Amino acid sequence: IKRITTNTLHEMKSRGERISMLTAYDYSMAKVVDEAGIDVILVGDSASNVMAGHETTLPITLDQMIYHAASVVRAATRCLVVVDLPFGTYQGNSKEALNSAIRIMKESGAHAVKLEGGEEIRESIERIITAGIPVMGHLGLTPQSIHKFGTYTVRAKEEAEAYKLLQDVLVLQEAGCFGVVLEKIPASLAAQATASLKIPTIGIGAGNACDGQVLVIHDMLGLNKGFKPRFLRQYANLYEVMSGAVKAYISDVKSSDFPNEKEQY
Ligand code: KIV
Ligand code: NA
Repeated sequence: IKRITTNTLHEMKSRGERISMLTAYDYSMAKVVDEAGIDVILVGDSASNVMAGHETTLPITLDQMIYHAASVVRAATRCLVVVDLPFGTYQGNSKEALNSAIRIMKESGAHAVKLEGGEEIRESIERIITAGIPVMGHLGLTPQSIHKFGTYTVRAKEEAEAYKLLQDVLVLQEAGCFGVVLEKIPASLAAQATASLKIPTIGIGAGNACDGQVLVIHDMLGLNKGFKPRFLRQYANLYEVMSGAVKAYISDVKSSDFPNEKEQY
């Protein structure tokens, strides 16, 4: 099987083939996702929420992201693996950003990094790309800035913010990003941004005109009980499946049904 690269994604946009992307944070889950044929696995800093139980993505560390990324890389034989640079590891200056990106590449074996922001972090993005590390951008709702936004509601509904986003996607393309995630913005704005770019856009809550889509795997599998935003399509109810299995096991242990004669030595 041929490994998917950033060039593959560019070719896919050229021929109008949609790009599929999902998060994964561990070996077992990444193996399922890679073998099912996903194009891109994102080792998102959403691991801070779904794996560690934090309320925001801010607390997760570079070491923790590297641990998740290395686990995913060991499972992924076909897809492109992109890793989030966590909060506080790239905003300081471009040297810090490059050092963080280098640690991710060296210590996890991943293929690319993702950073949140536009013009403000242009220098950092350029420096990382100059070192030979592919960079994906992320605009719109950028969860590392949640304390600035105050809420997780749709971004760029007003003209000023929409205008800045349209400028920023071009900045990212010019800086050399191979793609950009657009999170929770109006579908019409995402369509405009997508049409203005040669590099692919990957949407989450950004409508159907994006060149690809991404979801947090725990959300789309129905493991994140009670989390049902409008943009989410739930493809399974793993919470129910897993809870049912655990309850059956408990019941079998309590009733002395497990283990039976065939399940012992
Ligand atoms: O961390 C994450 O899961 C992400 C996606 C939602 C794009 O950045
Ligand atoms: Na993220």
